[in-house]
Amino acid sequence: MKIAIGCDHAGVRMKETIKDFLTKLGHTVEDFGTYTEQSCDYPDIALEVSTRVANNEFEKGILICGTGIGMCIAANKVKGIRAALCHDTFSAKATREHNNANILTMGARVIGEGLALDIVKLFVETEFSNEVRHQNRVNKISTIENQ
Ligand code: RB5
Repeated sequence: MKIAIGCDHAGVRMKETIKDFLTKLGHTVEDFGTYTEQSCDYPDIALEVSTRVANNEFEKGILICGTGIGMCIAANKVKGIRAALCHDTFSAKATREHNNANILTMGARVIGEGLALDIVKLFVETEFSNEVRHQNRVNKISTIENQ
């Protein structure tokens, strides 16, 4: 799978760990920065990754900041993005099955790397359920987006 990844200064180390992990699993990961721990603005990175996912250049995106919250808010402003903040494995699986989320956000100051990798694996490997009720709800989100 082609995956776009990005972070702000708070998520640089976690991003590197996730890149290694996904690459070893056979995925193609493109890194949209930031690359150092020098302070930067998370919306800039969220826009880079989200635009590419929305344009179908990448199947999924992963965004990391201190809390995961700013990245999630910013990513969800891009049309076509369903970004989910997940700090537990149940949510990671459920947001793929129910919401067809296409971007995962996490907070590097909130969870450790071991849990983050479990979350990433579930997010990447879980398919959307395709159940009509879930598809209808996702369609309603698109309707709101188009208003
Ligand atoms: C940066 O200090 C911090 O605000 C950012 O990483 C993130 O947590 C924002 O939501």
